[in-house]
Amino acid sequence: MKRMVSGIKPTGELTLGNYIGALRNFVKYQDDYELYVFIANLHCVTVYQEPKELRKNLKDAIGLYLACGLDPQKCTIFLQSDVYEHAQLGWLMTCMSYMGELNRMTQFKEKTQNAKDENITAGLFVYPPLMAADILLYDADYVPVGEDQKQHVELTRDLAQRFNNRYSETFVVPEPLVAKVGARIMSLSDPSKKMSKSEESNKGCIYLLEDINSAKKKIMGAVTDMCAHVNYDKINQPGVSNLLEIMSSLSGEPIDSIVTRYEGKGYGEFKKEVAEVVAKELTMIQNRYNEIMSSGQIEQILKEGAERAHRIAFRKLKKVQKKMGIDIF
Ligand code: TYM
Repeated sequence: MKRMVSGIKPTGELTLGNYIGALRNFVKYQDDYELYVFIANLHCVTVYQEPKELRKNLKDAIGLYLACGLDPQKCTIFLQSDVYEHAQLGWLMTCMSYMGELNRMTQFKEKTQNAKDENITAGLFVYPPLMAADILLYDADYVPVGEDQKQHVELTRDLAQRFNNRYSETFVVPEPLVAKVGARIMSLSDPSKKMSKSEESNKGCIYLLEDINSAKKKIMGAVTDMCAHVNYDKINQPGVSNLLEIMSSLSGEPIDSIVTRYEGKGYGEFKKEVAEVVAKELTMIQNRYNEIMSSGQIEQILKEGAERAHRIAFRKLKKVQKKMGIDIF
């Protein structure tokens, strides 16, 4: 069975973008792949997090993993910091990375372009080699991610190849798995930007635990255009195309078929259906989330997940340390 690894960094509440671009796909893959999914809590603190809030977001994220359909009998779910090998291999991968390549990471550039140097942590800069370690520890064949993380997986491939060339074959070189539809859900208030939890105005982002009416209102208020016909054209109709991607990903109906159904009809009617589809999905997730959070099962799931992950990670790290010469026996 091919192996897959992925993670989410809950620096805020999980969004519809996280769900469509990543989480939903993890659920689909868990039957056919050996899947390791973790909560990237070490990545969270590359930017200051208020501890109480972070703790809540981490717990919520695990609850949402389960509510969205991840099954601990089928996949391994754990907290990144519970498996110490992540931080250790993260350091070794940092030592394999060059300043130049880390400087070219789009996400780092975007996150730091308006910040002053003294406010940018070194952790934010070496975030990609830690991500590489997350993946390489498990010899993952595939890494299911949204579009914005593809570059980091490509760096991971470079680091794996560099290591293999320098020290002999050690790591599987992983491939990013980016879905054709829904890999980049855009902000509802500004469809030129990615839907993101760190968005300043809250209007463009739907959260998985958001009040259903508030989520519907955001869809109804989504920025569209003056073309007045439902059409999939990301350049000229980015807002409508985004809504089409959301609807198609959640309902499974191909975009073409939705477009045909809405021929000659206005945006109002279309948005209403998108809002209903989103509301239905969120209601299902939230009901399951409430059951899970009151069942007290999370701690045990994480404990077992960390043990399973550790067994693999431990062996891999040992091997790497031996090859590098830092492990002397
Ligand atoms: P993060 O937490 O920013 O996002 C988690 C996953 O959600 C996807 N995503 C989106 N997909 C579509 N549309 C959007 N608007 C959208 N926003 C987010 C992301 O592409 C991602 O797949 N560095 C990672 C976490 C991480 C990781 C890893 C992932 C740490 N180690 C190892 C894979 C493998 C991150 O910050 O994702």
